[in-house]
Amino acid sequence: AAARLKRVEVGQLTIGMVGTAQYFLPHLIGQFRQEYAGVETRLVLGNHDQLLRMLQGGEVDIAVMGMPPKELATRTEPFAANPLVFVAATDHPLLNIGHPTPSALEPYGFIVRERGSGTRAAMEKFLQNTRLQPRVVMEMSSNEAIKQAVMAGMGLSFLSLHTIGLELQHGLIARLDVEGTPVVRAWNLVHTLSKVLSPAAEAFRYFILERGEGFLAERFGQLMPFATPPAKS
Ligand code: PGA
Repeated sequence: AAARLKRVEVGQLTIGMVGTAQYFLPHLIGQFRQEYAGVETRLVLGNHDQLLRMLQGGEVDIAVMGMPPKELATRTEPFAANPLVFVAATDHPLLNIGHPTPSALEPYGFIVRERGSGTRAAMEKFLQNTRLQPRVVMEMSSNEAIKQAVMAGMGLSFLSLHTIGLELQHGLIARLDVEGTPVVRAWNLVHTLSKVLSPAAEAFRYFILERGEGFLAERFGQLMPFATPPAKS
């Protein structure tokens, strides 16, 4: 194998991440650290609103989030698509309808993310546009908890496809081919304009802009087709 040059940037880097990005960002950070071994990296988690406050307070150098921030003067750079989908238990009756309209979801209960979550905001925007009025059975601030609740048959949910890769691969959760979905949003790199990026943060920024999209395509690209979960081997 070709020997790779270790890059010279040193220093500390604090990366903020919405929990929804935890299914891919640690892998990219791992690759970054192989090339920039001198950068001491910290990763902090929060939902959309919490990360905005951390950016504002200068607690993180740069953040990875779904919804772009409106409330803060930032540079926001989209680096990959973030598809959001409706999910259900694998024996859900809606799976018998090939391509349900949003109104077909109306009779069923929903498990939703907390206010302040970008996923929640994206869901509300979609629902507003389709005039679907969901009955919320429970609110949970963790994608993991929501997945377990969906698998337990507690209700439907709306999540980033990038949070359910393993469950889809193993046929544990079903993705509903609802008309108008996936709602494709972006993954963004965000930093405040009031703070100059350190060389370490710049290096990370370039790394994600260069590698992020390819990594996500490789990891999740095969999950794009709807409905039939991949055959188990
Ligand atoms: P969140 O992340 O739902 O965990 O806030 C997604 C986003 O930022 O859009």
